[in-house]
Amino acid sequence: MLIYNNVSEIRAYLTRLKREGKSVGLVPTMGALHDGHMTLIDKARQSDIVVVSLFVNPLQFNKSEDLDKYPRQLESDIAMLEPKCDVLFAPSESDMYDTVPVVSLDFKEMGSVLEGAFRPGHFNGVGVVVSKLFNIIQPDSAYFGLKDLQQYLIIKQMVKDLSVPIEIVGCPIAREKSGLAMSSRNLRLSETGKKTAANLFTGLSMAKNLVEKNRPLSETKSEVLGFYKSVEGLEIEYLEFVDNKLTIQSTLDDCHNVAVCVAGYVEGVRLIDNLYLRSEN
Ligand code: PAF
Repeated sequence: MLIYNNVSEIRAYLTRLKREGKSVGLVPTMGALHDGHMTLIDKARQSDIVVVSLFVNPLQFNKSEDLDKYPRQLESDIAMLEPKCDVLFAPSESDMYDTVPVVSLDFKEMGSVLEGAFRPGHFNGVGVVVSKLFNIIQPDSAYFGLKDLQQYLIIKQMVKDLSVPIEIVGCPIAREKSGLAMSSRNLRLSETGKKTAANLFTGLSMAKNLVEKNRPLSETKSEVLGFYKSVEGLEIEYLEFVDNKLTIQSTLDDCHNVAVCVAGYVEGVRLIDNLYLRSEN
């Protein structure tokens, strides 16, 4: 695996490969890699060259405490990537942002609900860094985990709106046996915390069962919130039903794609998860 820390060097290298007709798949990450990331890399193998970027992007953190506590483990990440990835791009902060970007991205309603409502500026930060990575690497395809469903839908929209010639591929959520969605943030949980956090998925599955029994969304929502309330150590921030435009749904009428999305805290760690209740794909 080749490792680049510098924008101009990786650009020169990839330009050469593209001239030879090689396709490039990009897996953008913030490191603290887990098996979920590995499934993205496996999917990216449909390209000739797999590039993984590893950059903890300060612009997408609205709380400096959250940024400081974000797990960083470059050496073990490199060891995990070595057998699977062709090129690692791990730039420094000054290389990515030699000045604070003046440009800002507004995703309107898509960026103001769910995560956007609780993490002001988050999707601007994600949009800016992902755009920069797309411009630096110029991949043919890019791979995103569906755990961050809102992020995936926003990036798909951004690429469409700006006619960016990159295929955005969403990859299924990787889960522990307990149902807990894999996340770099899980590293900060104790074993008890992980058991508590697995209840996020139990609640989402409960919502799916209730909806399949034709229970209205309002009743489903209060029943699942009631369940979450009964779990000691779990504090819910939101539970919402959205379509693929990220419009909040209060009924399932005429909706072909609806996901239930949850965010909550366990042991002070903010976690998110979601589950499609109806999906056309
Ligand atoms: O999902 C992530 O890890 C990050 O939001 C991303 C896409 C790498 C941008 O920093």
